[in-house]
Formats: sequence, C-alpha cells, structure tokens
Amino acid sequence: MTALGKLVRSTAFRLTLVYLVIFALYAAALLVYFALNTGRLITEQITETVDDEIAELTEQYTIGSWRQLTTIIENRSLRPGSSLYLFTAPSGQAIAGNVGSLAPGVIDKDGWSETVYRRLDEQETAQHSALVRVTRLSGGFRLLVGRDLEERARMREIIVAAARGSVALVIVMGLAGGFFVARRVLKRFDAVTETTQRIMAGDLSGRLPVTGIGDELDRLAMNLNDMLERIEALMRGLKEVSDNIAHDLKTPLTRLRNRCEAALRSAKSESEYRDALQDMIEESDGLIRTFDALLMIARAESGQARENMTEFDGSEIVHGVAELYEPLAEEKGLTLKVGDSVPAVIKGNRELLSQALANLVDNAIKYARLAPSGEVAAPNGGAAAQKPPSEIVLAAGQERDRVLLSVADRGPGIPEADRARAIERFVRLDHGALEPGSGLGLSLAAAVARLHGGELRLEDNSPGLKVVIALPRVAAA
Ligand SMILES: Nc1ncnc2c1ncn2[C@@H]1O[C@H](COP(=O)(O)OP(=O)(O)OP(=O)(O)O)[C@@H](O)[C@H]1O
Ligand SMILES: [Mg+2]
Repeated sequence: MTALGKLVRSTAFRLTLVYLVIFALYAAALLVYFALNTGRLITEQITETVDDEIAELTEQYTIGSWRQLTTIIENRSLRPGSSLYLFTAPSGQAIAGNVGSLAPGVIDKDGWSETVYRRLDEQETAQHSALVRVTRLSGGFRLLVGRDLEERARMREIIVAAARGSVALVIVMGLAGGFFVARRVLKRFDAVTETTQRIMAGDLSGRLPVTGIGDELDRLAMNLNDMLERIEALMRGLKEVSDNIAHDLKTPLTRLRNRCEAALRSAKSESEYRDALQDMIEESDGLIRTFDALLMIARAESGQARENMTEFDGSEIVHGVAELYEPLAEEKGLTLKVGDSVPAVIKGNRELLSQALANLVDNAIKYARLAPSGEVAAPNGGAAAQKPPSEIVLAAGQERDRVLLSVADRGPGIPEADRARAIERFVRLDHGALEPGSGLGLSLAAAVARLHGGELRLEDNSPGLKVVIALPRVAAA
C-alpha cells in the first residue's frame, strides 16, 4: 500500500472526512438561512417605503389636483436613486415619471408585482427588474411607485460568493487537517507495529513507545507494556523453573539409578535386595514430593486457584495446622503452641493457605532442632545457646489492613542477607542441607501469599526465625 493510500484509509482521516461533510452542510445551511432572511428583509423594507410613498402621493392628489401630482412626480423622478415613478392619464398615456418601458399589462393591474423595466434615460436594450405597486386614482389616473431590485440581486451574489468561498475553505482546511492528524496517528501506530514485530521475532524486552500526552493511545501502550512486563516475567520464571528442574531433579534421579546399579552388582541375599528397593521407594517418594510442590507453586502462580476462594477466619487454619503438627513436634522434643490469636477474616484458598502454613511449621520443626545439638551456630551467637530453642509459636494477628499468620521458632534463624535468597525455588541454605528437603517450602508459601495479594516476610525472632504470611484483611460482615 502506498503511503498516501495508507493515510487515506486510516480511521483518523475517515473521521475527519465525516466531520468535514458535517461542517460543510452546517455552513451551507447557515448561508441559505442568511440569504433567505436578508432577501425577505429587503423586500419588506421596499414594500414599507413604497406603501408610505403611495399613501403620501395619493393624499397630495386628493387635496390638490393631477397637475400638482405631476409636478411632484417630475421632481422626484429627477432625483438619483433606485425609485421608480409612473403617472398615467385615463387614456393610458404617461404624464410623468422616469420609467421608459414596462412588462405589458403591469400598469393595468392594481397591487404588487415584480417586473422588468427600462428607465426613460436609458437605451432601448437596457433591462432591470423592480418591485412595483400600482394604484388607481379617482378619475381614471394611475400611479406606479417602485424600487429597483438590483440591491437584492447584489446581496444574493455576495452570499453565493461567500458560500462558495467558505465551503472551499472548509474542504481545503479539513483535508489538510485530516492529512495532518492521520499522519501523526499513523506514525505512532507504525512505531507500535514495529515494536510488536520485534517482540514477535523473539525480543521480549521491547516496549511500546509512550509519548507522555496521556491520551488513549498512551494508555493503551502503557497497558500493553504492563502486559509485556508480566509476560516477560512469566517467561523468565518459566525458564528458571525448567532450568532448576533439569538441574535439581537430575541429582536424585542419578542417585536412584546408582542405587539400582549398586544393588544389582553387590546384593547377595533377598533381604539386601529388599533394603535396596526400600531405599529406592524413599528416593522416589522424595521426587514425587518435589513434583507435587512444583505443581502447587505453578497452580498458585497461574492465578487459577483464585476461583476457589472463600471467606473464612484465618485463625481456624492456624489451629488446624498446629493440631496436625503437635505430635510430630513432641516426638522431636519441641513444644508447639498457638499464641495470641484473634479472629481475622480473609478471603482465600483454604487448601493452599493451610499447605503454606504447614510448610513453615515443617521448617520450624526441622531447623529449630539443629541449634541445641550445636550442629549449626545461631547467627546471633550466645543468645540462642542460653535460651532453649524448643518453642514454636503459631499466631493469627492483625495489622491495620493486614491479617498476619505467623510461625516463630527459636532455631538458628536466617541471616538478613540470605532471607531473599531463601525464598527462591530450590534454594537451601548451608544448614538446610543437613535435613531432607528440596528447597521449595518457602517458595510455595511466598507464591500462595502473592496469589492472595499479600506477601511473605522473614523476620528476626531474636533468636530464631519468624515467618509471616501477610494477607489483605476482609472487613467482617
Ligand atoms: N525456620 C527456619 N530456621 C532456619 N532456617 C530456615 C528456616 N526455614 C527455612 N530455612 C532455610 O531456608 C531454606 C529454604 O527453606 P525451604 O522451606 O524453602 O526449603 P527446605 O525446607 O530446605 O525444603 P522443603 O521445604 O522443600 O522440604 C532451608 O533450606 C533452610 O536453610
Ligand atoms: Mg521447608
């Protein structure tokens, strides 16, 4: 398509054309109205003055004689101007006036008529039009008074010329405006098309240009940019996950394979085979758990779980999870209790939130045990050693517009610098490696918090770690 063709086909140009037609029609209607009214006004003025003059002349005739009227008309006929006079005898012969000839029959008809005429002092061929009134006077005399219509005709000409000029101007300016607007809009769309093509070619970092005017195109571009931002983040996440999976699942799979090989090579008795198989089942269970965790994170991050959200009291799941984990904590020599917990209404996916909280309790049980045996030094030194790190406290609280579901332990904690990293997928800190796990527990808790419009906070419990799931509070009905 040629540049001009593209321009002419643009929406902006078409809209301009529509406006152009509307404006041209409007201007034309205005001029027609103006012309009609001016014509009417001029005619009205003529009839009024002619009526007055006839009344005056008739009066002169009545009080004087036809001779006196003749003198008056002769005088008036000599004055320059557009007035016409004709005074005729009963025989039809002209006595006085400045009319040389009239259309036939006009002088015999009483009242108003529009006629062509020639002045007495003009050549035979001259011809003008006039509005005249004829009155019959007593004694058979006739009097014609009229006005030339040249003024009205000239007015019409002026208006027609103005109409032509203004319509032409509207069209020229409209077309020029249309081209200008269309070109500007097209330029911006071309920039958008160019960026989109670059993005389609695989460069996800491209962003649509925003002029900063704040018009609808800008708003559209900003929204699309936000969308691109999100897509890019998702793609990056996807790539990261697949890289992680490839890397982190390779180790347990290799281990599984090596155990099979070792069993085949060295196992002698049935019980040795049994032990080897038992090991493999455990290894496989670990793999399945990792896959389950990954799938759950994916579910939370896709936003699909948003459909299953209900309103409930956050302290309910705190109690539920505490009950579930109490025996396990006790078995490991820890106490698990629910601290202050106030009713706190949230809207969310009960299953995912319970799982997230369970992951935090699982961590607390796993890692809090490490400190007393001295396997891992607490980051804040002596404090942890003095205080027995045996207590895990769950709580449901509120903070302005947030509901806080928290798990606090007295274990080694996580140094400030490592906290952001600990949340990442498959990341296990130094002491984490001493316990079984795949480094996905906190990632899931964070993904669930994000799904609910909240966030996961890792705080210092001095000593120990306090993990908080902060969620938007729902006003209690
Ligand atoms: N309560 C805690 N105290 C001290 N360190 C913790 C605590 N919770 C988590 N961490 C550290 O953060 C790391 C990441 O925790 P995360 O729950 O994500 O993974 P994991 O517990 O190692 O494995 P998974 O939860 O998948 O079984 C852990 O490996 C551990 O080093
Ligand atoms: Mg964990």
